[in-house]
Amino acid sequence: MKQFRDRVAVVTGGASGIGFATAERLAAEGMKIVIADIEPGALEAAVKKLESGGAAVLGVRTDVSKAEEVERLAQKTLERFGGVHVVFNNAGVAVTGEAWENSLADWEWVLGVNLWGVIHGIRTFVPILLRQNEPAHVVSTASMAGLTSNPGMAVYNVTKHSVVTLSETLHHDLALRGSPVKASVLCPGFINTRIMDSARNRQSDAKHDPPTPEASALGASIELALREGISQGYAPSQVAEKVFEAIRDEKFYVFAAQPEILDAVKLRLDEVGGQKNPVTPTVLIE
Ligand code: NAI
Repeated sequence: MKQFRDRVAVVTGGASGIGFATAERLAAEGMKIVIADIEPGALEAAVKKLESGGAAVLGVRTDVSKAEEVERLAQKTLERFGGVHVVFNNAGVAVTGEAWENSLADWEWVLGVNLWGVIHGIRTFVPILLRQNEPAHVVSTASMAGLTSNPGMAVYNVTKHSVVTLSETLHHDLALRGSPVKASVLCPGFINTRIMDSARNRQSDAKHDPPTPEASALGASIELALREGISQGYAPSQVAEKVFEAIRDEKFYVFAAQPEILDAVKLRLDEVGGQKNPVTPTVLIE
């Protein structure tokens, strides 16, 4: 996609972190922006900030895990701006814990946002983009955790691996049609955002599942390591720049990751290709 001015971008999880930085970057190209987010205060502040920079902005409170809310988001976007050209399926949440100890509620919450959110985004928006038959782009946020299998993060890893394969398949499906609609997958490493405070948006039904005693010890150490990596991570604006360039240059894989994390991906692919047993990683990857 080469023309950005006056085109329309929908950004889920756009009220903070990577989503907000990307909304700002696309607004700087003259795009009209729709921010979808579950957190009302942050959503309002994000809309105000973009508007104060001169952008045309619509904020739509959306829980991406619910199909009907994503459908409503599309409807509101078309009502307000008459079309859509960039869809950034980016909203995401994280939990930690050993594979057997996460509660059913943990699995349902994280799969709901990270995987079903992207599925709803694709099922709802891609048919609209295909009908428009103009250059358009779908970017979905996975993670380097979608290309590796870090310990203590089974739930998150499952969702991010799923987003990688969903995006790769979408890319092939669109390519076989010769469509002007393109796809990318974003795989960040450590980025300095509030992802480790995801529970701020968790519905109260599931927030207080009691962890097992072992879970608290291991969960705490993993959580600590992740928080440290993220606090020293790249700025969201660096990721936003890569997302913009990927849309402009039609690049599928969008990596914004520290060198040691990229090495871990190469190691895993080598293990898979050579049918070697996986070496347990010592570097945590978000
Ligand atoms: P963040 O916490 O700053 O932003 C996530 C946004 O998603 C927030 O604005 C939040 O309100 C929103 N959100 C949460 N649940 C939602 C729901 N059900 N419906 C709609 N919006 C919802 O975190 P960050 O890092 O900007 O996260 C963006 C994406 O980047 C996520 O998919 C995350 O998994 C991914 N990621 C982040 C990395 C990092 O190091 N920060 C690394 C790899 C991937």
